Amino acid sequence: MATLDEYKPPPLPAPFTNTNPPPILLTQGAEAHLYKTTSLNPSTPAALKIRPTKPYRHPILDRRLTRSRIVQEARCLVKLVKEGVSVPAVLALDCEGQGGEEASWGGAWLLMEWIEGPVVRVVLEQWEAWMKAQIHLEETVRISEEDRVRGLMRRMGETIGALHKAGVVHGDLTTSNLMLQPFEGESEANDSVSMEGKIILIDFGLASQSAQDEDRAVDLYVMERAIGSTHPRTEPLFDSLLQGYRESYKGAVSALKRLEDVRLRGRKRSMLG
Ligand SMILES: Nc1ncnc2c1ncn2[C@@H]1O[C@H](COP(=O)(O)OP(=O)(O)OP(=O)(O)O)[C@@H](O)[C@H]1O
Ligand SMILES: [Mg+2]
Repeated sequence: MATLDEYKPPPLPAPFTNTNPPPILLTQGAEAHLYKTTSLNPSTPAALKIRPTKPYRHPILDRRLTRSRIVQEARCLVKLVKEGVSVPAVLALDCEGQGGEEASWGGAWLLMEWIEGPVVRVVLEQWEAWMKAQIHLEETVRISEEDRVRGLMRRMGETIGALHKAGVVHGDLTTSNLMLQPFEGESEANDSVSMEGKIILIDFGLASQSAQDEDRAVDLYVMERAIGSTHPRTEPLFDSLLQGYRESYKGAVSALKRLEDVRLRGRKRSMLG
């Protein structure tokens, strides 16, 4: 895979071609490119998500897909901000793919509030590495460390519950799509990894409006599998996420019941290979 140094992203759409300093490319997924830039004034950071066109797709179909995903994402974010769910606010978007001078630019972009802090995947990876590096881990330390992770899991569950309560399912719940925004001016007296902060949900490219137990349970199942495969030491603490979820809204109990069916189906499928 090409590194970010070698990789040359497609030209930025206007007005981002002449911002000073220029946007910085942070990640480049299969579908979207994420930049850090500023909004209105140079001291207000913002996140710019660009969905470039895919040259191998039919241009009309491509434009329609790119456009509908960015609109869908923006629509969910606007609704969730209104409902008080922790997600980045929408600042601007272009789904027409005009791209200013670049007449041929058929992509779409979304400019949103910048969230400070790491994604939960990084927090858990660092914590697991820290735990592994402890040669003599006292039992009391191990318990208090696991309690901190349980607290984080619980807050994740509460945030996912708030999302579902608002009538939205995420569609791609992994630890890379949750961020941990540290509280301002606060630091823990701990040499391990900080778990303090507010959980913010990001990446609503696959989200949809749904209040069905099945869709909610699939969201939880995807998260459970993601933690099982990427964070082995955290997996036994996953029940704290479900506990936070259970206590966050009334419909949670039936979604959790459905989760048991989804797990069974998942297990059957993996047995069939
Ligand atoms: N509002 C934001 N503030 C700060 N960083 C962000 C923000 N949104 C995204 N990021 C960073 O950029 C990364 C990629 O963003 P995102 O998950 O939305 O895109 P993606 O996974 O490439 O998209 P998709 O799965 O929709 O194709 C995130 O993991 C996070 O590190
Ligand atoms: Mg993502």
